[in-house]
Amino acid sequence: MSNVVVIGAQWGDEGKGRIVDWLAEKADIVARYNGGHNAGHTLVVNGQTYKLALLPSGIVRGKLGLIGNGVALDPEALLAEIDRMAALGIRVTPEVLQIAETATLVLPVHRAIDSAQERLRAKPLGTTLRGIGPAYEDKVGRRGLRVCDLAEPELLAQKLDVLLEHHNAWFRGLGLEPFQRDQVLRGLLAIAPRILPFVGRVWEQLDKAHSSGKRTVFEGSQAVMLDVDWGSYPYVTSSSTVAAGAASGTGIAPSHLGQVLGVSKVYATRVGEGPFTSEVEGTLGDVLRQRGGEYGVNTGRPRRCGWLDTVQLRQSSKVAGINLLALTKLDVLDGFDSIYVCVGYELDGKRIDYMPSTNAEQQRLRPVLKRFDGWEGSTRGIRSYSDLPREAAALIEAIQQEVGIPVSMVTTGPERDDAIVLRSPFT
Ligand code: GDP
Ligand code: IMO
Ligand code: MG
Repeated sequence: MSNVVVIGAQWGDEGKGRIVDWLAEKADIVARYNGGHNAGHTLVVNGQTYKLALLPSGIVRGKLGLIGNGVALDPEALLAEIDRMAALGIRVTPEVLQIAETATLVLPVHRAIDSAQERLRAKPLGTTLRGIGPAYEDKVGRRGLRVCDLAEPELLAQKLDVLLEHHNAWFRGLGLEPFQRDQVLRGLLAIAPRILPFVGRVWEQLDKAHSSGKRTVFEGSQAVMLDVDWGSYPYVTSSSTVAAGAASGTGIAPSHLGQVLGVSKVYATRVGEGPFTSEVEGTLGDVLRQRGGEYGVNTGRPRRCGWLDTVQLRQSSKVAGINLLALTKLDVLDGFDSIYVCVGYELDGKRIDYMPSTNAEQQRLRPVLKRFDGWEGSTRGIRSYSDLPREAAALIEAIQQEVGIPVSMVTTGPERDDAIVLRSPFT
């Protein structure tokens, strides 16, 4: 049975969570491989909304959730999320959640660094202030704490000393309050007994699952344009969001990944700073934001809105390994007379068909827009392609043509089954 990797094909918030939830019906496991509680994945099931940050989206269906080594795990945030889910009737026990021993920990000191760094930047990045970037910095700096360290209090104390020594020099240099080792240690040791029962060998679980014919959905967080290598650097997150990240971030063999489903809205949004060529400001942008409910799931920040950018989508698909598309939020375009799609760029007066690598060039891009007729009536909740207005079908076909990748699914509302399936990503 094939696995599927679900990744954001734009700047995040494409609807990955609801696509993963839909796929999870026919899967055994859902595994997260990157990011942390900077993610906000929304599921709507029979009118009930679930907002997930760290927990894999299959948890709502009771499917086994794995948190891979590539995730930056804030143990306090995880426990708070588990409690929130319990209040909604979803019990998260070690039978349904396993966390990789080697996942890096996000600590209170990382949140403080994230905030201080944003304050100090001449041009802030607009991070989620969750401490994700600083935690990954410590990971590659080889001073990070890992989930398995929670089981060894003495070693934990020593490692914390090294980590805090490094950061406290910086805090002191800025005239900020240094972190007290004992206080941080006490906090971690108090939390450890609730976290440790979930800890296991995720790579082994995945290997066994694959050998026994079970199916896993790998749930990406963030998106290609926020990838630390392939995104609009430095306005990116600090992890690998592409399909390759699913292998390095869980321990599954790259050859076992299966189909790679890229999720894209039929328009575009971005939250935080950075270039956004097809951005639409003013009233039209406000209308998209309003109709699309484009406000951050966890931070509540208004998302910047614009038209779909097929140059970005085509290039992102190539570098991320996307071979199928899920197009979301078609219903949000109901009622527009004209719909535009960015099909090319102009850079300094010259037409180009790729996204340049430098931030300066990305900021100078002008979109080449193509107009499409809007449609009358509502597409909300439509579940059959033949029920779509002719103009909506034409838009989907044009997107498929421009991007050069087959469309697997189109969603027409936030509810679990508000979707048209054209070809299943499972082979
Ligand atoms: P994720 O981070 O990629 O999982 O996406 P988010 O959950 O951050 O944002 C997607 C938002 O769009 C959520 O509020 C979803 O409930 C909503 N949504 C998803 N699919 C559709 C759809 O087809 N139509 C509408 N109107 N809303 C949708
Ligand atoms: P999901 O999984 C949208 C953005 C932040 C900021 C940049 C860096 O829900 O799609 P970070 O806190 O990661 O250092 O912030 O990345 N960002 C997201 N934008 N959706 C997300 O996750 C995001 N996670 C991070 O707004 O611009
Ligand atoms: Mg989100």
